[in-house]
Amino acid sequence: MDKLTYAGNLASLQDTADHDHFTFVQADICDRAAITAILSEHQPDGIMHLAAESHVDRSIDGPGDFIETNITGTYTLLEASRTHCDKQQSTNNHEPFRFHHISTDEVYGDLEGTDDLFTEDTSYDPSSPYSASKAASDHLVRAWGRTFGLNFVLTNCSNNYGPRHFPEKLIPHMILNALHGKPLPVYGDGNQIRDWLYVDDHARALIKVFKEGQDGETYNIGGHNEKKNLEVVHTICELLEELAPSGDNDHIEATYKDLITFVKDRPGHDVRYAIDASKIEKELGWTPEETFETGLRKTVEWYLANKPWWESILDGSYKLSRLGA
Ligand SMILES: NC(=O)c1ccc[n+]([C@@H]2O[C@H](COP(=O)([O-])OP(=O)(O)OC[C@H]3O[C@@H](n4cnc5c(N)ncnc54)[C@H](O)[C@@H]3O)[C@@H](O)[C@H]2O)c1
Repeated sequence: MDKLTYAGNLASLQDTADHDHFTFVQADICDRAAITAILSEHQPDGIMHLAAESHVDRSIDGPGDFIETNITGTYTLLEASRTHCDKQQSTNNHEPFRFHHISTDEVYGDLEGTDDLFTEDTSYDPSSPYSASKAASDHLVRAWGRTFGLNFVLTNCSNNYGPRHFPEKLIPHMILNALHGKPLPVYGDGNQIRDWLYVDDHARALIKVFKEGQDGETYNIGGHNEKKNLEVVHTICELLEELAPSGDNDHIEATYKDLITFVKDRPGHDVRYAIDASKIEKELGWTPEETFETGLRKTVEWYLANKPWWESILDGSYKLSRLGA
């Protein structure tokens, strides 16, 4: 289920739409009646909860939606799950229903000036309205486990990238601005460090944790790919020069790298995130398959090969594909 906010795009589900086990419902996670109806009709083994407001800049401009979806929405899903589990237990001998909460490494705050890594025991210290709302949702999930006995697993992941990434996020934003000859805006000095993970590696980790993770446990997921933002932008420019040379691009007079522009830093900007993923590696045998170099190459190639997908977002026509539109 998905509300299809500005960040949702039905075209991203095209490859899955014909699968026998796939059904799509447009609904809001704050709508208790809608969730109850879905649980009752489909009797799922569990919920993997990814729905969120997720863009840090938007959370600074308007935190309200983040409080509503990330906190109230998670609370609503938890309550609907609790009632569903109670009903299940009284009627049959199902495997326990599992609630998998998908969260972010941003709940841990910032690692400026240290070589430390975020472990599952690192104290929470969120900086932005986005990370604070995700931290609150993590606490709710653990409390529902401890107080009401809800079977849950929780994962905190580093920055994802890959195909179908909404163009407001750093990597697709830079690829598409470069292709259009627009400035490539880098916050501050571009020295902020993020730990990047290819989206398919994240998806593989989520399936493993959902199926094999221990009830009540948290698993950090990361790619061992710490990169400075400026380094990421340089690599994108180099890949584009190789795959779609600026000399062949009518929008550009110089090279892609000449489009890099430094802009005023984001307030409260975390300097460094880095994940210790040794628990999921040791306990569940998960390791990422992509390096940053292979994953970024695949990502740039995907955006070059899938122009209609991102053009419909840039011109707003993707919203017309919504149900009832
Ligand atoms: N992208 C990352 O780098 C990253 C890293 C770690 C964790 N996460 C977490 O993974 C999850 C997914 O991230 P993403 O990057 O795909 O986010 P996104 O913003 O690209 O997509 C969020 C999706 O949630 C839907 N949604 C928003 N509000 C909703 C509501 N009230 N009810 C139902 N659906 C709603 C949107 O329509 C959209 O399809 C989030 O919970 C995020 O915190 C993301």
